[in-house]
Amino acid sequence: MSFKKQLNWRYATKRMNGQKVDDVKFQNILDAIQLAPSSMGLQPFSVIVVKDLETRKKMAPVCFNQPQILEADAILVFAAWKNITEENVNTYIDNIINTRNAPSESLEGFKQNILGLVNGKTQEELVIWSSKQAYIALGFGLFAAAIEEVDTTPMEGFNPDALDEILQLNQKGLKSLALLAVGHRDAENDYLNGAAKVRRPASDFFIHI
Ligand SMILES: Cc1cc2nc3c(=O)[nH]c(=O)nc-3n(C[C@H](O)[C@H](O)[C@H](O)COP(=O)(O)O)c2cc1C
Repeated sequence: MSFKKQLNWRYATKRMNGQKVDDVKFQNILDAIQLAPSSMGLQPFSVIVVKDLETRKKMAPVCFNQPQILEADAILVFAAWKNITEENVNTYIDNIINTRNAPSESLEGFKQNILGLVNGKTQEELVIWSSKQAYIALGFGLFAAAIEEVDTTPMEGFNPDALDEILQLNQKGLKSLALLAVGHRDAENDYLNGAAKVRRPASDFFIHI
């Protein structure tokens, strides 16, 4: 399979047909998102998987009634951690120790590095930093879906405060950043199906030094 062919196959799908996404393919997309790299490996964001139609009906108006919210099979909500606590860092360090059977002393310096970085940021800066990590994972999800021939729409067109309210993200210490609608294109009714890609020319986009 040529990944370039798949990247041209994918597009930000405007209309989906409500068809269910194959479970294995869907799981592969989630796996890719989970496997995305993040700064220091901390993964300071969460991904809420919304399949429930009633919840999506509540979401639609605060997503400017974009049809994908109801026509997709699932909406993934990428949400930044609003705070990164010492407990979060300890959990991560313990995960490394257990996964790699590493002696805890060997990770003390690394842990202090993370705490230094995190504690040196304001809450606003932390959310921006966490958002960057989340967007890398969003990209991995987009790519994986293209490989699986599953359609997606990355979406920032929604009211984050209102969505946080509906999904009770505040109580979970989360702030919504972006959505990924996952489903199958409605080929007949989507005016962008088959449209040529519009991208800046490589000669302008890349600066070779
Ligand atoms: C972060 C982000 C937010 C976006 N928000 C929306 C959105 O709310 N609704 C939508 O239909 N498309 C949205 N798009 C899709 C872009 O318009 C689309 O990716 C871009 O025009 C390039 O086209 P292509 O993805 O079809 O190749 C978004 C894309 C990104 C990366």
